[in-house]
Amino acid sequence: MDQSDVAGDLADILLTEEQLGSRLDEMAAQIDADYAGKDLLLVGVLKGAVMVMADLSRRLHHPVSMDWMAVSSYGSGTKSSGVVRILKDLDTDLSGRNVLIAEDIIDSGLTLSWLVQNLRSRGPESVEIATMLRKPDAAKVEVDVKYVGFDIPNEFVVGYGLDYAEKYRNLPFIGTLAPHVYA
Ligand code: XMP
Ligand code: MG
Repeated sequence: MDQSDVAGDLADILLTEEQLGSRLDEMAAQIDADYAGKDLLLVGVLKGAVMVMADLSRRLHHPVSMDWMAVSSYGSGTKSSGVVRILKDLDTDLSGRNVLIAEDIIDSGLTLSWLVQNLRSRGPESVEIATMLRKPDAAKVEVDVKYVGFDIPNEFVVGYGLDYAEKYRNLPFIGTLAPHVYA
């Protein structure tokens, strides 16, 4: 899928497929180095993190296990409240494991700070976060993100796993929506 398939829906392309790919190369190299000689479990947060998980994991030389969680964050409108419900839990026992959470985007950071606490309570060796995108509000919450692809402005973005009303997830780049799409 490319821009011509969503004719007129996008205001701007924020990050191209090439930019995402070369940043993922760097992140993967850093993760390989940091986890050398250690076991590594990648945990993807459905649904948005599917692309990051697929593209990041394939760039790693390190052997990994993969598991998935689905959570929903209660909130008013588009803002999350930090009250999180697990829709699909992990199949994996985390005791003694090195867990790396793969995320598409951190906005308020409330969902992820809840998730990190939840996973830490299961007796893992470590829990870290790798996110493709981070918005400015994330700085307000005490959530330590070890690997960040790009810091982006506080705009609603779609593509590369991110949706608006379940659309645009299969765009290979990140873009902003034209105002008429929300109308
Ligand atoms: P937090 O708790 O960090 O929630 O506020 C992060 C979740 O909010 C969604 N989100 C977005 N989804 N474009 C999207 O498609 C965006 O610009 C955006 N900002 C936040 C997303 O589900 C993320 O996991
Ligand atoms: Mg998400």
